[in-house]
Order: sequence, then C-alpha cells, then structure tokens
Amino acid sequence: MADKKAQLIIEGAAPIDLPVYSGTLGPDVIDVRGLTAEGVFTFDPGFMATSSCESKITFIDGDNGILLHRGYPIEQLAEKSDFLETCYLLLKGELPHAEEKQKFDSTIKNHTMVHEQLKNFLNGFRRDGHPMAIMCGVVGALSAFYHDSLDINNAQHREISAIRLIAKMPTIAAMVYKYSMGQPLMYPNNELSYSENFLHMMFNTPAEIKPIDPILARAMDRIFVLHADHEQNASTSTVRLAGSTGANPFACVAAGIAALWGPAHGGANEAVLRMLDEIGDVSNIDTFIAKAKDKDDPFKLMGFGHRVYKNFDPRAKVMKETCDEVLGLLGINDPQLELAMKLEEIALSDPYFVERNLYPNVDFYSGIILKAIGIPAELFTVIFATGRTPGWIAHWNEMISNPYKIGRPRQLYTGHTKRDYPNN
Ligand code: SDX
Repeated sequence: MADKKAQLIIEGAAPIDLPVYSGTLGPDVIDVRGLTAEGVFTFDPGFMATSSCESKITFIDGDNGILLHRGYPIEQLAEKSDFLETCYLLLKGELPHAEEKQKFDSTIKNHTMVHEQLKNFLNGFRRDGHPMAIMCGVVGALSAFYHDSLDINNAQHREISAIRLIAKMPTIAAMVYKYSMGQPLMYPNNELSYSENFLHMMFNTPAEIKPIDPILARAMDRIFVLHADHEQNASTSTVRLAGSTGANPFACVAAGIAALWGPAHGGANEAVLRMLDEIGDVSNIDTFIAKAKDKDDPFKLMGFGHRVYKNFDPRAKVMKETCDEVLGLLGINDPQLELAMKLEEIALSDPYFVERNLYPNVDFYSGIILKAIGIPAELFTVIFATGRTPGWIAHWNEMISNPYKIGRPRQLYTGHTKRDYPNN
C-alpha cells in the first residue's frame, strides 16, 4: 500500500526509511511501526498528529469545514435522510434501497424494549444521579442479558448487538429521564418512528398519551443525524481501544459513553447551557470573553473550538438553521438564543478567537433546540450518546471485522532510574 517513502534522520544514526500511504481523501500518513525495531518511539500526547487506524466510515476536512459519512455530506444527510437511514449507511457503507430501509426500520423496532429486569437496575441509583452515570451503568450491564450473542468473531452476533444498541439507547435514555422524574417508565410504541418513539417515551405518561408534534420529532431526528459519527474523536477512539482487547460491544459502548461525558467532549452541550445561564445577559459577555482569554482562568467558552475544525463545524451551521426553524415554528422567543448569537458575534470578531480558529462547534446551538423540545440540560449528553451510538458501533465493527492488534501505546519515561530498596 506504500505510495511514497519518508526518511527519518536521527543524528549519529543511519537514515530510517518509512513507508508513506495516501488515502482517498486527506493527508498522507507515515507508517512509523518500524521505529520500534530502530529503538525509538514517536511522541504525540493528545494524538495531535496520529492516525490510529485506517477507516472508510467518516471523513473530516477541518480546514474547509467538510464532514462526509461514507462520502455523503452531512448537510445533505441532515436535509434528506433520517437517523435510521444514516445508521444503516454508517454500518453497511451504502444507503439502503426502499426494501432494505423498511426491513432495517422494522428490525430496529423489534428490539426497542429492554429486559424487564433492567428496571430493577435503575432502582439502585439515586433519582438525582447524573443521567450519564446511570446510562453508563445500564449500557455496560446490557451484556449480562445477551449471553447468546457475545462472540465478537461471529458476524451475526456483531450485527444483532449493533441492532440492539441502536434500538435500545432511546428506551434507556427515556427510562433514565422518567426515573429522575419519579414518573412511570413508558414502553416503546412501535407504531411510531424512531424519534417519535423516543419523545413518546420521554414525555407521555400512562395517564395521558398525546400525539408527538412532527416539528419536534423531525428536529430530534436531525439532532441524532448530526451526532451520528465523527471520525476518531475521543469517545470513538475509546470504543476502538476497548474493542481491541476483545471486550464485548456493550462494554465498549459503555466506555465510549464514559469518555463522551467530559465537558471537553460531549459534555459540552450541557456546559453551554449552564454557561449561558451564568452569563445571563448580553451586558456580561465581555467579562466572560475576558475570562476565556485569561490563561490563569480555567474557564473556556463552551461550545467553541475543535481539535479538527479550524473553520466552521458544518454541523453547527445546520444546528443553527434548525434552531431558527424550530423556535420559529414553535413561536418560541428564547433569550438564550439571542445571547448565544451575540456571544458568537463578539467572539468571532475578537483576535484571540480568530487567531486560534475557534468557531462554534456541534455543541454550541444543540442545547437550545433540546431545551425547546423540553429536554433538561442534564440529559443533553445522553442525547449525544444516543445519536453517536451508530458511529461507535460502526467503528467497532469495522475494526473487529478486519485484522487488528490490541491498542497499547508506549511513553517517554522521565521518572527515576533503577534504585535499590533501602536496607535499613
Ligand atoms: C466535541 O473530536 C471530535 O470530533 C469531538 C466532537 C465529536 O463530534 O465527537 O466534535 C464533539 O467534543 C466538540 C467539542 C466540545 N467541547 C467544547 O466545546 C469545550 C470547549 N472547547 C475546548 O475545550 C477545546 O476547543 C477543545 C477541547 C474542543 C479542543 O481542544 P484542542 O484541540 O486541544 O485545542 P487547544 O486546547 O490546544 O486550544 C488551542 C488554543 C489554546 O490557547 P493557546 O494555548 O494557543 O494560547 O485555543 C484555546 C486554548 O486555550 N482554546 C480556547 C477554547 N478552545 C481552545 N480558549 C477559550 N475557549 C475555548 N473554547
């Protein structure tokens, strides 16, 4: 596969030839695996310049704000596709034709319920526990209910595990919400579409079953599409690393949920709403911009910046359009939207943000739509995890269904050299 060659010259040593590979899109990569035989490692904390794998699922061009899922631009999928079709695309590599789509949708619907015993699992948590803590525990526990399909080398087992995870995440997300509210859990209604079903389980009760507003269902589905996958981000890399040990897919996705929770990653959507609450009014924006720029202040502008996008995050653009559309259709005049737009305007005219290419990311506007749908801030990252599940499981499956090795990075050791235990 080597297209070109790189040569590494270390003072006092013979030049080391390294293969260079070109993908279909994106930067070339230098295969550094041969360096261990030469007695040196690469050093790349935070994996700023490291390709951890070869993948065909998602391509991101951070300089030009491009995001492709199996070659299809996110803007087109958000407008023309739906979440389950996007799940199919990520998992199988092609858009389904009508019959395949119908079969996939009905297969997902047949797996939306969780084992009845899982309810007891919820009772072990405090009702005010963070929903991500509960989600992490419940998803990790799912493997205890599916001993029939945990052979990761069996393609059918991998397939049914992917179906179960995609189908059950909304049910678990709604269970977590209902449990926190002290309301009875709602069973899925398979007459409804995926996102309608989620909102049904979230907001209906046995005392009152109301039809789901199609505007909210479409907005919810689009939010799931916008979160579906994003190349080798921290949580997807966590899923791959866990999967490289042979762990079952439920454990791997639970590891991904744990990684996503951090405010530097998927936890940012909840943190954006809390930041907007804290800013409170346009008159306070300059104070918070100054805090974000102050190196001695740990405060960062949540929802801003991205490791890869040094231009607009294309998902943020679609999210902002959806924000305007949903709030307009619902006749909601949310002052936090005005505040967010003013904050974006001021930040993008400030040299600190411009010089560092800090633009709004997927998390900046998503919370405002989720709030308009009626979802509480502490559940925002659970929504992100639900949307990201097809991406996680597609990457896990891509790795497991091809030759792979256990992920085991090395280090630059700067600790003590050998010393003997004192005799005294
Ligand atoms: C997601 O990887 C993915 O694809 C993730 C994701 C996905 O779909 O999976 O896109 C989802 O996680 C989006 C990001 C959500 N997080 C936030 O919104 C939290 C706020 N953003 C920052 O924490 C930060 O921008 C990161 C973590 C997103 C990116 O960090 P990097 O790539 O390590 O960049 P950096 O910290 O090295 O920043 C470069 C400079 C630094 O200043 P200098 O040292 O050069 O002076 O920019 C500054 C940073 O201090 N900076 C910010 C900032 N983000 C970066 N300063 C203020 N506010 C910010 N938000």
